[in-house]
Amino acid sequence: MSSVVGIDQISFHTSNHFFDLRSLAEHQETDPNKYYEGIGQEKMGMAAHDEDIVTMAAEAAYPLVQGDDSAAISSLLFATETGIDQSKAAGIYVHRLLGLSNNCRVVELKQACFSATAALQMACALVARQPEKKVLVIASDIARYELNTPGEATQGCGAVAMLVTANPRLVEIDPEVGNHVEDVMDFWRPNYRKTALVDGKYSTKIYLRSLKRAWENFQAVSSLNFNDFSHFCYHLPFSRMAQKAHQHLAKVNKTTLTPEQLEAQIADTLVYNRIIGNSYTASMYIGLASLLENSAENLAGQRIGFFSYGSGSVAEYFSGKVVSGYEAHLFTADHAALLQARQPLSYEEYIHLYHAPDPTDGGEHVIPVSTKGRFRLASISHHKREYVAL
Ligand code: CAA
Repeated sequence: MSSVVGIDQISFHTSNHFFDLRSLAEHQETDPNKYYEGIGQEKMGMAAHDEDIVTMAAEAAYPLVQGDDSAAISSLLFATETGIDQSKAAGIYVHRLLGLSNNCRVVELKQACFSATAALQMACALVARQPEKKVLVIASDIARYELNTPGEATQGCGAVAMLVTANPRLVEIDPEVGNHVEDVMDFWRPNYRKTALVDGKYSTKIYLRSLKRAWENFQAVSSLNFNDFSHFCYHLPFSRMAQKAHQHLAKVNKTTLTPEQLEAQIADTLVYNRIIGNSYTASMYIGLASLLENSAENLAGQRIGFFSYGSGSVAEYFSGKVVSGYEAHLFTADHAALLQARQPLSYEEYIHLYHAPDPTDGGEHVIPVSTKGRFRLASISHHKREYVAL
């Protein structure tokens, strides 16, 4: 039985449209630096009406399932907190769109922004038991808050797909973890609401408290100390949160590193998040892709610390080691092209997409083509969502 398991490939996708926070600030007659600097965000992805968590997930996973060995995928674990159905797992649509083997387990996982980490750890355990198998972990979310609230500027959307295997080519995941769970109401979305309810300042306080406690629990079982890590990935509701979190962790560990050295340990993880926005479950892993794809130094052999947080709340601290030769197995150019090709929205267009049609009458609702992607939501008819490959 192999004990070396982890992330073999990683790929992400976001919407074809974005809304620039300068345009939001202009509409609100506020200083754009409140967003660009204060929360560290520049743009947010806005899903078109024919894009959703399923189409983004299928796009993200598409490059990972092109090889002959995709038949080895024994499980598809789909993490989301913006599910489209109370019963059917969104991953089943993705499974069909990608043409995966029918001999496959598909399930959806939920615990706010944390569930992708639960999926990753479960995937590692499954692969450790059957090293010849692969597990496809997908996290896909659309972050949506009420208009004219502090949360509005922290919207966004994105999906990330990771192939978890034995002897991975990107990042080996260490078995030691530290958790912290607490029953709090910092951010939640009752079934009857399309937008999240959030106690914003309180949520940042719980995030930092959870970081300290999960880290302490991690320290109790891991031989790794703060100084053993070259880089740190954090859950990214907005980029400034990671900066605050990293300063907090550094203080807890009484580090002698300068503010510039601390910033260098997280800066490359923030590149994509600043222009995609919050993607809930996907955000920390898009941060990992951002680090691997944007780091000027070779990260082979270096340790990365991961802090995953899901409101409500569950937190986990864990670690991984970058594998030698990882840079040959990234999708850097594809991701650059995806982000480069996105189209900006006017305020009116943003509001139009914000109010996504959500027919509840069971009638035939045909959705015009908007996405430039391979997959789209074509219609909702008799309460059934119809996805097509273009
Ligand atoms: N130029 C530069 N900076 C400026 C500025 C300007 N003109 N105006 C304001 N700022 C700075 C402020 O000084 C502040 O900086 P500090 O945090 O360092 O003090 C920063 O911009 C934010 O401004 P405010 O303090 O006025 O905060 P806000 O009212 O804009 O709200 C928020 C911030 C509460 C986080 C809000 O964005 C929110 O509710 N977001 C959604 C909830 C969230 O993301 N919570 C994170 C933890 S929970 C989680 O992680 C789960 C999840 O995914 C949701």
